[in-house]
Amino acid sequence: MESLPKLYTELADWWHLLSPPEDYAEEAEFYRQGIISACQFTPRTLLELGSGGGNNASHLKQHFEMTLVDIAPEMLAISRELNPECEHIQGDMRTLRLNRQYDAVFIHDAIDYMTTASDLRSAISTAYLHCKPGGVALFAPDDTLESFQPSTTHGGRDRGNRGLRYLEWTWERNPQHNTCTTVMVYIMRQGNEVVGCVQERHLYGLFSKNDWQTFLTEAGFKPRSILFEYSSAELGSSEIFLGLKPAK
Ligand SMILES: C[S@@+](CC[C@H](N)C(=O)[O-])C[C@H]1O[C@@H](n2cnc3c(N)ncnc32)[C@H](O)[C@@H]1O
Repeated sequence: MESLPKLYTELADWWHLLSPPEDYAEEAEFYRQGIISACQFTPRTLLELGSGGGNNASHLKQHFEMTLVDIAPEMLAISRELNPECEHIQGDMRTLRLNRQYDAVFIHDAIDYMTTASDLRSAISTAYLHCKPGGVALFAPDDTLESFQPSTTHGGRDRGNRGLRYLEWTWERNPQHNTCTTVMVYIMRQGNEVVGCVQERHLYGLFSKNDWQTFLTEAGFKPRSILFEYSSAELGSSEIFLGLKPAK
């Protein structure tokens, strides 16, 4: 993997102005329903890998006892402030070994940072090892190879005397690799002063539905996919993947 984006290190303190926790209520509920419907028992414990600023967790924690893992200490720090009741651990989803199992494992858009088949297989193995028999792992990549479209979006918020705006530009997929490049520009203000203007590249993995099903099966999961349902997205514009771990 390339070095971590500045967004998750030196700019992490601005994350919740780029991606506010309150925007995640609807999708967190969708993931919760997906987990509950696929788990063979009522799930109580949930491990999230690549939990970032803890936005999904800020909603899911009302339903699950959660452990949040991220590779970036700066993201864990802002998530701890938002979710002080959750356990936080620094770790890499490809290599983490907690020697514990959870009723369910969740990897949201952080899975996009798995840019090779080998990395994606490793993250899926980590999820498998940490999932109880009869439990489920839910993976929510932003796109598959089939659903990917180049796009341009912008957004950002103000809070107190600070504000951030961003432009996000995703180019055509890189033809030789299963990846796409997104260039992001962030402009930050404090009062009336612009205190930063930063641009950087994010490289994301893109895998076909068939790859997902193959990798989940290889790890030992029974694979399932469901269409992502979200009020402001067209049904079928993306898909999420579930790995059902067979009961012993
Ligand atoms: C878009 S953010 C996740 C935001 C999260 N969905 C939320 O609800 O706040 C992506 C996160 O993935 C993390 N990440 C990237 N590669 C990782 C890895 N190999 N292991 C664990 N975390 C990783 C980054 O540090 C970053 O915090």
